[in-house]
Amino acid sequence: STGPDVIDVTSITKNGYFTFDPGFMSTASCESKITFIDGDEGILLHRGYPIEQLAVNSTFLETCYLLLNGELPNEAQKQEFITAVRNNSAVDPSIANLIRTFKNDAHPMAVLCSATAALAAVYNDQIDITKAEDRKLTAYRLIGQIPTLAAMVYKHLKGEEFIAPDSSLDYAENYLHMTFGKAGQAAKVSQVLAKAMDRIFILHADHEQNASTSTVRLSGSSGTNPFAAIAAGISTLWGPAHGGANEAVLNMLTEIGTVENIDKFVAKAKDKNDAFRLMGFGHRVYKNFDPRAKVMKQTCDEVLAELGLEGEPLLAIAKRLEQIALEDDYFISKKLYPNVDFYSGIIMKAIGIPAEMFTVIFATGRAVGWYSHWDEMVSTSYKIGRPRQLYTGYTERNYPTK
Ligand code: ACO
Repeated sequence: STGPDVIDVTSITKNGYFTFDPGFMSTASCESKITFIDGDEGILLHRGYPIEQLAVNSTFLETCYLLLNGELPNEAQKQEFITAVRNNSAVDPSIANLIRTFKNDAHPMAVLCSATAALAAVYNDQIDITKAEDRKLTAYRLIGQIPTLAAMVYKHLKGEEFIAPDSSLDYAENYLHMTFGKAGQAAKVSQVLAKAMDRIFILHADHEQNASTSTVRLSGSSGTNPFAAIAAGISTLWGPAHGGANEAVLNMLTEIGTVENIDKFVAKAKDKNDAFRLMGFGHRVYKNFDPRAKVMKQTCDEVLAELGLEGEPLLAIAKRLEQIALEDDYFISKKLYPNVDFYSGIIMKAIGIPAEMFTVIFATGRAVGWYSHWDEMVSTSYKIGRPRQLYTGYTERNYPTK
C-alpha cells in the first residue's frame, strides 16, 4: 500500500453501534439532573430555575447550594452552608509557598491550575470519594478556597503580599478584598462592584457538558482525586475557544482600537481564508442570544454607570461591533450571537481586573459546576470514560529488516 488504509470498523461494532462524532456534536456522554439548555430558544435552567431569575434573586453561594443539592436551601441550611464555606476558605501555607515559586509574569491560569492540583497533595489522604460526608467537606474546601487562590494568583502577578480571607465579608466582597485590599488595612469594598462580581460568579456557575466540565467528568471517572480532576477542568477552560475567550475579547477590542476600524475586523472574520474570529461571538449550543449575555449586558451598564465610565472607548467599540454583527447576513445565517464572554471582560476591566485574570474569575465561578457534575457522577454507578476512535493509519506492516 502507498498510504494509510482505513481499517474496517465492523470488527469493533460487535457490541452495538459505532458512532463517529468529532467534537461530540450530537453525542450525550452522560445523564444529568443539574442543568438544562435549549440552545435554539436561548434557555438555561439550573435545577429547573431560569438563570435570569437566579442572577437577580439569588446569591452565588445560594446558587452553589442549589447546584450541589438539587434544591434551594431554607434559611438555616443557607447559613450553615455559608459558615462551612467560610470556615474552609484559608489555604494551607504549602500552597502559598508554591505560588511564590512561580515567575510573577506567569499566566494566572497556569498558576491557578497548579495551585488547585496542589490541593490534592494537601488533602489526598483525607478524601474517600465513596463517602458523602467526605465529598461534602471537599465541596466546602473547593468553593471556600478557589477565590482565595484566585486572589493570591493576582497578588503574585502584582508582586504584592497575600491577603487572608476576612470572615466578616460575604463571598464576592471577600474576593474583592483579598484581590484589591492592602495588607494591614481594613476591608473597603464597593457594594455595587461586589454585587456585580457575585452576579458574574452566578452566571458562570454551570453550563452542563462543556469542554471543561466533560474533562472533569472524564478525568474523575478514573477515580482520581477530585482536586486533580478540577485542575484538569481549569486547564481546559484556559483555551480561547472556551473560557479564555473573555481575555481574547478584551485583547481584540484593544486591537480594534477605534470604531472606524470595526469594518476591517468584521471583514476578516467573514473571510474563509482568514483564521480570525470575532471573539465573544458564537456558541456550540446557543443558536440564539446566550441568556447569560443578556444579564451580563445589563450588569455591564450598571457597573459602568456606577464608575462613571459610560464613555469608555472599548465599550463604544463593543456596542458598535455587537450592532454590526446582529445586522450582518454572515452572522445572522450562522446564528452567531454575542456570548457571555463578550460583556464579562468589559465589566471586569472596569472593576480594575487585568485581562489575564479574567479566565481565573470564570474558573472561580465554574468550580461549583465542575464539582456538582463530578459529585453527581461518583455518587451513582459510573464507568470509566473511554471514547473509541476511527483509526485511519496504516494497516499491519512488517518492520524492515536487512
Ligand atoms: N467569528 C466568525 N465566524 C465564526 C465565529 C466567530 N466568532 N464562530 C463561528 N464562526 C463560523 C465558522 O467559521 C463556521 O463557518 P463555516 O460554516 O463557514 O465553516 C461556522 O461559524 C460554525 O463554526 P464552528 O467553529 O463549526 O462552530 P462550533 O460550534 O464548533 O464553535 C465556538 C463554537 C468555538 C464558540 C466558535 O463560535 C468560536 O470560536 N467563537 C469565538 C470564541 C468564543 O467566543 N468562545 C466562547 C464560547 S462561550 C464559553 O466558552 C463560555
